[in-house]
Amino acid sequence: MRQPIGVIDSGVGGLTVAREIIRQLPNEQILYLGDTRRCPYGSRPAEEVIEYTWEMTRYLLAKDIKLLVIACNTATAFAFNEIRKVLPIPVVGVVYPGARAAIKMTRNRHVGVIGTVGTISSKAYNQALHGLHPYIKITSLACPSLAPLVESGKLEGEQSLQIVRNELLPFRDVPIDTLILGCTHYPFLKPFIKKVMGEHVQLIDSGEETARETSTILYLKGLLSQENPPPHEFYATGSAQVLERIVRDGLKIKAITRTVQLV
Ligand code: DGL
Repeated sequence: MRQPIGVIDSGVGGLTVAREIIRQLPNEQILYLGDTRRCPYGSRPAEEVIEYTWEMTRYLLAKDIKLLVIACNTATAFAFNEIRKVLPIPVVGVVYPGARAAIKMTRNRHVGVIGTVGTISSKAYNQALHGLHPYIKITSLACPSLAPLVESGKLEGEQSLQIVRNELLPFRDVPIDTLILGCTHYPFLKPFIKKVMGEHVQLIDSGEETARETSTILYLKGLLSQENPPPHEFYATGSAQVLERIVRDGLKIKAITRTVQLV
């Protein structure tokens, strides 16, 4: 069906999810909206995150999307259940696909979760993991300095590695074998996280899993597009320049980018 897929995030982190959807579903058109003006969401109160997530949702609904992906862990943690109940179209969040992949991966049934303060305090991953498997042991950790590190663009160098190392220190003596990257920004830090955690810890990137879930839902509902899509559209509530740079140079995606106003 030739309607776009809507993808929302607090900023540019959700581009890791959009990239995966585009890779796995090349016939689909993406309308991406990043609330860059009000990013980060990770330290905001739940009510505020819910309100902002609704504003983004309404904006894309008005553009006739056929499915909504909430590509932000904090927004999924606080607003997914509410939005999913109300919307007339399927809604996919990033928490459940990540939890499911971790359960598939773990051998010793001890899973780590890292995310923003909001995501970790919401316990959304604990609920999702225990809802699927009651005997999974979970060690969660809020990593407030990692999303700003990605935003700063310093994705190389000893200083950045040290920031990641310090943030992950509490895992030093915790025998997890699987770690959920419960924040859309963290896949950008994968090489550092891998280095700190060691080869024996599998990293779960929610983006890949969310794209897979999106693909399955569209297939089951008969909503997959069969034709070449029109150009993707990427909107930012703040300056569209950063978004444009990442989309063009980082993701190498041809797209229309523009700044929009939600309210
Ligand atoms: N997109 C957010 C998340 O996945 C991270 C950035 C923020 O704090 O807004 O939780």
